[in-house]
Amino acid sequence: MRIRILGSAAGGGSPQWNCNCATCAAVRAGEPGTEHRTQSSIALRGAEGGWVLVNASPDLRQQVERMGDVERSSLRSSPFVGVVLTDAEIDHAAGLLLLRESGEPLRVHSTDEVRATLTDDYPLLRMLDDWCGIAWTALEPGVELQLPGTSLVVEPFVTGEDPPRFRRAAPVGPGASIGLVVRDAADPTAGRLTYCPSLEAWTAEIEERFRASRLVLVDGTFWSNDELVGAGIGTRDARAMGHLPMDGPDGTRERLASLDAQVVYVHLNNSNPVLLAHAPERALLDAADLAVGFDGMELELA
Ligand code: MLT
Ligand code: MN
Ligand code: ZN
Repeated sequence: MRIRILGSAAGGGSPQWNCNCATCAAVRAGEPGTEHRTQSSIALRGAEGGWVLVNASPDLRQQVERMGDVERSSLRSSPFVGVVLTDAEIDHAAGLLLLRESGEPLRVHSTDEVRATLTDDYPLLRMLDDWCGIAWTALEPGVELQLPGTSLVVEPFVTGEDPPRFRRAAPVGPGASIGLVVRDAADPTAGRLTYCPSLEAWTAEIEERFRASRLVLVDGTFWSNDELVGAGIGTRDARAMGHLPMDGPDGTRERLASLDAQVVYVHLNNSNPVLLAHAPERALLDAADLAVGFDGMELELA
């Protein structure tokens, strides 16, 4: 299985258009050890079948152009055989609109709850249905699904029940936010990937999935719980936003360090000091062998 990080930043990207925090300022100034990052998305490819897009970010267009190795055998062809959504947040869903030129119905996989949000509250699926058409398949927590057109099998699991702030109706089911365990049915001895860009709580069940994986791509939104509040740029702390911070009691850093899996942080918010390669916080991750994902990062499970 090939794994490519298309966008390593959380909502807003890095630097964020209106942000002048220390991290954004350093990235914008091009300081050594910094880089620009687009919004959260990965692409996966199994031994059989084409690339699957996991989360469609507002930066999708640039991300596709940077992929390079997609088949372009006919006059119009999609680089992706399907799209999987882990939530309905703007950073993970807005890019769907950029796929509207598709010559065939877009194959989209999500939970019922994400589909309802993207039909009723932020009606991307309804809009696209009138444009290229949508071929939607349900992702059910705990139920494995082989993604059509690929040898990849995903098992969704709930990572949060906090809906996007624009969700008006009561949930129609579990899984406002999910993670995925991914295996390749055509390469049964290869290890598993767990992708989890949003992690609200560390549970025994989720830890079990991490322990059974060879590669873990995990929520790296915030370094500290009070990162935004402390910097004077937000009123909600990391946990209230559905993201366990890296540092502090119950932070993910120490827990992830105890895994045998290769760990890569993704969905990094522009305020996170680990985006600066020379920051002391980054040295703590380096010492624990926890990687900071970057745009274009390629990983492989064989
Ligand atoms: C999140 O990951 O919590 C959301 O994308 C927040 C947002 O950007 O609105
Ligand atoms: Mn997000
Ligand atoms: Zn910033």
